[in-house]
Amino acid sequence: MDTLLNEIRKRRTVRAFRSEPVEEDKIEAVLEAGRWAPSGKNTQPWRFVVVRSEEKRKQLGELVPQRDMIATAPVTIVVLKHIPSGYDELKDAQGIGSCVQNMLLAVHAQGLGACWIGRARDPEVEAVVGAGEDEELMLVLPVGYPAEEPGEGKRKPLEELTRYI
Ligand SMILES: Cc1cc2nc3c(=O)[nH]c(=O)nc-3n(C[C@H](O)[C@H](O)[C@H](O)COP(=O)(O)O)c2cc1C
Repeated sequence: MDTLLNEIRKRRTVRAFRSEPVEEDKIEAVLEAGRWAPSGKNTQPWRFVVVRSEEKRKQLGELVPQRDMIATAPVTIVVLKHIPSGYDELKDAQGIGSCVQNMLLAVHAQGLGACWIGRARDPEVEAVVGAGEDEELMLVLPVGYPAEEPGEGKRKPLEELTRYI
């Protein structure tokens, strides 16, 4: 438990990436961690598009805020919601949140870094990644070897967040 908690604490958002490629098995492990996330009624409403091609990364970079991250990260994982699999907007979003947190931890555990970009929800981005009519873009996740060492991170104290009754 200590190890897991330490890794959860040490995970930080990475916003600058080295250009070296990321091994395919590492990306697969990240996707696998996402696949095993919990979801309401086990509907697994997430779908993934792994963007590796230089051309697509360039197109994405032109549309997404914080374009430098997309341009420099060797891989961007796009997380879509498969609308027919969903059943409740809030619970679908919660499930996708748990999926992405699993992915972020798998990224961190393998010495990689990533940034959750939630402001990329745009029909043009959906078109670039080939999202279907029955899919909705939720976020994009540039992934790569970190070119920065983010600080320790800050969190509110537990006493401020928790009430025992
Ligand atoms: C739902 C959500 C949306 C986020 N959107 C962005 C974003 O658009 N751009 C960005 O740089 N970071 C984004 N982040 C990363 C947060 O800024 C980051 O997780 C937070 O500041 C805590 O830092 P840490 O991840 O290093 O602990 C997002 C995180 C979440 C969970």
